[in-house]
Amino acid sequence: MVRASVNLHNNAVGKVMNAPMQFFDANPPGRIINRFSRDIENVDVFIPLTLDNLLRILILVVVSFISTVFNFPLYILMVLSAGIYLSVINVIASVSIRNFKRLENIVRSSLLSHVTTSCNGLNTITVYGQEKNFIDGCNQYSDDTTVGLLLYSACVRWMGLRMDIGGSLMAIVTTIVVLATKGSISPALSSLSLTLSINAASLIQFLARMVNETEAKFTSVERIHEYENLKIEDDEDTIQVEDKWPNQGGVVFSDVVLRYRTDMDPVLHGINFKIQPRQKVGIVGRTGAGKSSLVSALYRLADLSAGHVFIDDVNIRTVSRKTLRTNLSSIPQDPILYAGTLR
Ligand SMILES: Nc1ncnc2c1ncn2[C@@H]1O[C@H](COP(=O)(O)OP(=O)(O)OP(=O)(O)O)[C@@H](O)[C@H]1O
Ligand SMILES: [Mg+2]
Repeated sequence: MVRASVNLHNNAVGKVMNAPMQFFDANPPGRIINRFSRDIENVDVFIPLTLDNLLRILILVVVSFISTVFNFPLYILMVLSAGIYLSVINVIASVSIRNFKRLENIVRSSLLSHVTTSCNGLNTITVYGQEKNFIDGCNQYSDDTTVGLLLYSACVRWMGLRMDIGGSLMAIVTTIVVLATKGSISPALSSLSLTLSINAASLIQFLARMVNETEAKFTSVERIHEYENLKIEDDEDTIQVEDKWPNQGGVVFSDVVLRYRTDMDPVLHGINFKIQPRQKVGIVGRTGAGKSSLVSALYRLADLSAGHVFIDDVNIRTVSRKTLRTNLSSIPQDPILYAGTLR
């Protein structure tokens, strides 16, 4: 189980690390952090625990039933009808329980996202005096998360109560059967059956709760598995460039059309220009004109819909993204402190 969790984690990390920029545009950090913290914690810690409990109780219940049926063969009818009743309750409740757990996971991601982005933008929030808005937002998200949790717990309790009623009915019927067959089997066996069936009745409730809890916790596996299936940036037909590339710094954009997503309009429409080696160039334009998008094209953060970019006469589409990105350096718009040299 630990190996399964490690594999899930490692595969998901591998995919997220190689995911295209689009993925990071669409997924706030909180959502990603939630999958790698809470969901992984569920898989690491809680799923083994609940599975362990589940198996233990399952064995107890099965042994109780078998020994009671052994003494009172007719008891099998009781077990069957109880089984049908419990399955119906389980079918009704488990859909809601699973979905409320999913809902809780989603709203928790929004809360984490809000907290992370607020912490990142604390200076801006303070400068513009927006503390109240952000605190209100945080309270709202906390409430939403609690609602998800409350609905989940309410559903679990709803099912627990029905299971309890079923279990108690079973205990009553067993007692009646034991009393009715007084004298036909030994008192020791009767009392053993009675004790076991009363025990099983209370355990069934717990068993059903464990089944649902385990199922609900498995939504975390589902969520991590989603990341395992992420599309990653693929490099096809790459060529090897010399180590020092690019040593001149000549850049040519030829009919470059760039769009961030296939369903969006292009942001660069057929751009053509040539920068000579060692030439220093400044790009000027109003906000949203597409200056940063030129850099995105240069780093292949988004794929070109048409046209080509050449650096020192090498078409960057033919160079692997890793080589391209390691061999270029840039100072981003948002201030980030790096430990080390730029190249
Ligand atoms: N990751 C993205 N996904 C979708 N659209 C984007 C993305 N980044 C930028 N855009 C859009 O592309 C256009 C060009 O944006 P870009 O960031 O290149 O402009 P800019 O000239 O760098 O602006 P600024 O001076 O504000 O930095 C804008 O309309 C912007 O909304
Ligand atoms: Mg910009």
